[in-house]
Amino acid sequence: VKTVRLALPERPYDVLIGAGVRRRLADVARQARAGQVVVISDQQVGALHAATLVGELHAAGVAASLLTVPAGEGSKSPVTAAHLWDELAQSGADRQTLVVACGGGVVGDLAGFVAATYARGLRYVQVPTTLLAMVDSAIGGKTALNLSAGKNLVGAFHQPEAVLADLDYLRTLPPAEYETGWAEILKCAVVADAALFGRLATQRPSGAGLEDVIGRCAEIKAGVVVADERDQGARAILNYGHTLGHALETTLGYGALSHGRAVAWGMVVAGQLSVRLGECAPEAAAAQDAALQAYGLLAPPSTIPRWEKLAGALAHDKKRVGGDTRWVLLQEIGRAVPGRSVPLETVRTVTEEVMAGARARDPRT
Ligand SMILES: NC(=O)c1ccc[n+]([C@@H]2O[C@H](COP(=O)([O-])OP(=O)(O)OC[C@H]3O[C@@H](n4cnc5c(N)ncnc54)[C@H](O)[C@@H]3O)[C@@H](O)[C@H]2O)c1
Ligand SMILES: [Zn+2]
Repeated sequence: VKTVRLALPERPYDVLIGAGVRRRLADVARQARAGQVVVISDQQVGALHAATLVGELHAAGVAASLLTVPAGEGSKSPVTAAHLWDELAQSGADRQTLVVACGGGVVGDLAGFVAATYARGLRYVQVPTTLLAMVDSAIGGKTALNLSAGKNLVGAFHQPEAVLADLDYLRTLPPAEYETGWAEILKCAVVADAALFGRLATQRPSGAGLEDVIGRCAEIKAGVVVADERDQGARAILNYGHTLGHALETTLGYGALSHGRAVAWGMVVAGQLSVRLGECAPEAAAAQDAALQAYGLLAPPSTIPRWEKLAGALAHDKKRVGGDTRWVLLQEIGRAVPGRSVPLETVRTVTEEVMAGARARDPRT
């Protein structure tokens, strides 16, 4: 079991990574003197894991119940949050109630937001079940809901009591979800850890190697969060590849392209922009692209959007400052810099080149 400490000044907490760490939940509940535990999950993870987790809590003498929502991004909505508030009220939730978010990033963001807001804040524990949630979304206390006007537009900062990343849960994770996790892991390595990148590029980790890699990514995320808990600047480094990635997801429609592939193409574009602007050597971008390719992340999108559409989506980027899209640029493998503005014409040229390359690679055309 690996432990990563989030040394936040107000209240530090631990991320535990390893097979079976969910069994620590009963102790966490007892230490928190929780009157009852309410586990929130989605229907898929509920059937596979969260119902069992509630059973394990009962067996350990902890009063617990399960609330589920439909699986998928659609549940990160105000309607679902209101439904969960009502269910908490019906189950007699009070300030001694401990909420547990058992699922991927959707459940983590939703249950975290519900915990942040019900009774002005309930304590909660993150039990991530996807690779993405283990290395990224479950750590750092950002919670959110989507509005029809855009993703993550409503939210709160609310740090969990603990994060329990149980590797047993990954056994049932569908391949497409693994893929997205690998994209985020490669992103972490590319922006923050050259040694990790070298290791990932040599061999795709599994077993104990996977535990190490998840632990290292959790450490990187924890470091960034501690340096910038409220997302004022430095935390943006983990948005590498996400500027164009989000624009691709928006223009193609969510679900047309996995988040991982969108981020991978976004990393290719960000890498080329970095080269074009003289921030990094072409070899660094090429090494990044080769790793993305080796992990199967550079399959071409089913359709390639026109520049005008992408530009429209970029213009709506939430991370803009004073009307200017900000980019995270690569400096070398293991080092990146956030907050750079890039001339729109350069973005256009590079994006069109990369997208033309993607099309040329497509065996179907
Ligand atoms: N708060 C943050 O800092 C942060 C950071 C990154 C992403 N996010 C958010 O995370 C969300 C994406 O999270 P995600 O990729 O985990 O998606 P997700 O939560 O939708 O999970 C993906 C799918 O996998 C299923 N699943 C989850 N764990 C499983 C398991 N162990 N076995 C079988 N199936 C399993 C789920 O039911 C779901 O259908 C987005 O809403 C994004 O905005 C938040
Ligand atoms: Zn992402």
